[in-house]
Amino acid sequence: MTGPRPGRLPGKVVVVTGAARGQGATQAEALAREGARVVAADVTEAPGCRHLDVTSAEQWAALAAELKESYGQVHGLVNNAGITWRARLGDVRAADFDRVHAVNVTGPLLGIQHLAPLMPPGASIVNVGSSAALTAHYPVAYTASKWGLRGLSKTAALELGPRGIRVNTIHPGYIETEMTASAAPAFREANIRETPLGRTGTTNEIAALVAFLLSEESSFITGAEIPVDGGLTAHGGVKSISDALREGTS
Ligand code: NAI
Repeated sequence: MTGPRPGRLPGKVVVVTGAARGQGATQAEALAREGARVVAADVTEAPGCRHLDVTSAEQWAALAAELKESYGQVHGLVNNAGITWRARLGDVRAADFDRVHAVNVTGPLLGIQHLAPLMPPGASIVNVGSSAALTAHYPVAYTASKWGLRGLSKTAALELGPRGIRVNTIHPGYIETEMTASAAPAFREANIRETPLGRTGTTNEIAALVAFLLSEESSFITGAEIPVDGGLTAHGGVKSISDALREGTS
């Protein structure tokens, strides 16, 4: 008889932001199953979640001090917290543009600045981007913020690499969460139409990659950007042409 599979993150201290619901909550559960000591954090109250507004340098500093005191080290950080904003180019207000940037880009920056000093060689940071970080189909505040996060991730991979700390970015496609549930049905349908696998994704399909990127199985992967999108961003916007040809020849 074989016992349960040993976890890939035994005793590792991992912080997950935006863990009250959606992708972050699933990641926290998945990482705990891998043996990690997960610090789930969110600005929204939820059982098992510690309060953290990722835009607050003071709150990051307090969390870092607590983790130093309790554990001495931090082995992983998942910058998952994010917000969307659906005003289009002509309508978006500068204050909303800045607010989205604060959560989606400045938040991850502050997390890295405060936790990287506690990270030993072998530690791993995962930034949650979006298919919108690779395209221009989504409204501007969110799109610009996620493109900005790519720049932060690349810089961090270079600057932290010499210390043995890896930084990677994942780009979810349309994942079924409360964030996407609030979008128009036409947005969901269009996403499915443009996705070669022909469906939306689940939070478990994101968490599996996050667990891999935090584990030693990915020990030579850094600065990478990995879409988890059913092929949405793989076809350069030309899926409809491929579909038309298939229909024409069948
Ligand atoms: P969600 O809206 O269900 O969950 C986001 C969580 O982040 C919430 O619990 C919220 O309270 C938290 N949060 C928001 N502002 C915060 C702050 N200032 N400090 C701390 N926590 C904060 O969204 P979902 O879908 O789980 O999104 C997770 C990440 O995935 C986000 O970065 C999002 O942009 C990204 N993403 C989502 C996609 C989707 O289809 N659902 C697609 C591509 C990217």
